[in-house]
Amino acid sequence: MAAGQLEQGPTLRVTGADLRTRYCAVRARTEALAARLSPEDQQVQSMADASPAKWHRAHTTWFFETFLLLPHQAGYRVFHERFSHLFNSYYEAVGARIVRASRGMLTRPGADEITAYRAHVDAAMSALLEQCTPAIAALVELGLNHEQQHQELILTDIKHAFFCNPLLPAYRAEVPAPRLSQKLEWREHPGGVVAIGHDGADFAFDNESPRHQVLLRPFRIAARAVSNGEYQAFIADGGYRRPEFWLSDGWARVSDENWETPLYWLKDDDGSAKENSFVFTLSGAQPLDPHAPVEHVSFYEAAAYAAWAGARLPTEFEWEASATADACGPRFDHGEVWEWTRSSYDPYPGFQAFEGVAAEYNGKFMVGQMVLRGGSVATPPGHMRATYRNFFPPQARWQFSGIRLAKDI
Ligand SMILES: [Fe+2]
Repeated sequence: MAAGQLEQGPTLRVTGADLRTRYCAVRARTEALAARLSPEDQQVQSMADASPAKWHRAHTTWFFETFLLLPHQAGYRVFHERFSHLFNSYYEAVGARIVRASRGMLTRPGADEITAYRAHVDAAMSALLEQCTPAIAALVELGLNHEQQHQELILTDIKHAFFCNPLLPAYRAEVPAPRLSQKLEWREHPGGVVAIGHDGADFAFDNESPRHQVLLRPFRIAARAVSNGEYQAFIADGGYRRPEFWLSDGWARVSDENWETPLYWLKDDDGSAKENSFVFTLSGAQPLDPHAPVEHVSFYEAAAYAAWAGARLPTEFEWEASATADACGPRFDHGEVWEWTRSSYDPYPGFQAFEGVAAEYNGKFMVGQMVLRGGSVATPPGHMRATYRNFFPPQARWQFSGIRLAKDI
């Protein structure tokens, strides 16, 4: 969505009643995700890149308080005058905040007080939504999409926290059904000039616009993501020990951090990684399903696998053109893992950040990161779209990130 659209909301096609319903549903889903976690679970921060579940619950609430209630609800009284210091993530314009790596030090406020904070803000938001202008509605929609992003992070981050616990606790009891073997098929794209980016018909983040033309050469793209079984063949062939497949920075990571498998593959009792027969999941330790998509690999591992396989990673433009092409030939299955692309996270030509308070949302992160496309099993329902640009540093492995292959024709 271009900046002007955020402020004016001309394309927002929701009524006040729709937005209230959606607000309640999104907020309730966050609480449902957290309900499986004890207060102790919600407190833990397993690494600087991850945040406590309790912090996610409070930060998403702070977003509505700071960007909606304080500027737009006359007479609104903040729940706690120091909470902005605790729960501001990265908005320089809003003021000082604790450093990210210290979020796990916040034993106070407790989980119950965060629940009360959420209720306080929800009550005030209910009143604000009664008199919702298009500009306010656009900001609410941004706040809801923001909260959905943090819903995914709650799952991503608690998975890492539980993995750090030798008990390997399960977040949920449900276990995914084993997958059927699926032959790797390829879709061909003739190339040419294609339109990339969001058309502005409904909500999108500013980094998805403006829609613009990109020239593609003819290419072939895999119809599904790389499977665990296929990745096991890479490991068995010495993939993690052969520098010829790796980018220089990636090989340094392999060496420095002794990578031998994707992040959550469990080693045998003797500490070796030869069998890799179990993997840590949100359902605890489970047998590795050879037909499920490989996940929790870095960009470096994805690129190395592609080189080993005699292929390459698609650009984000090839990915989007394939995901939106008319159905012909094999289906383009996606949505189980975020898929690394060979595209660095850059602004589209003519990019304009959201105006006003949300200007810091995306644009300032457009350096040193790679784009991922698709979505994962942790992505909230309705939150995926073909133009969505996720982004992480190339060494990141704790996201539900996988691999799709492409080839030149
Ligand atoms: Fe955030």
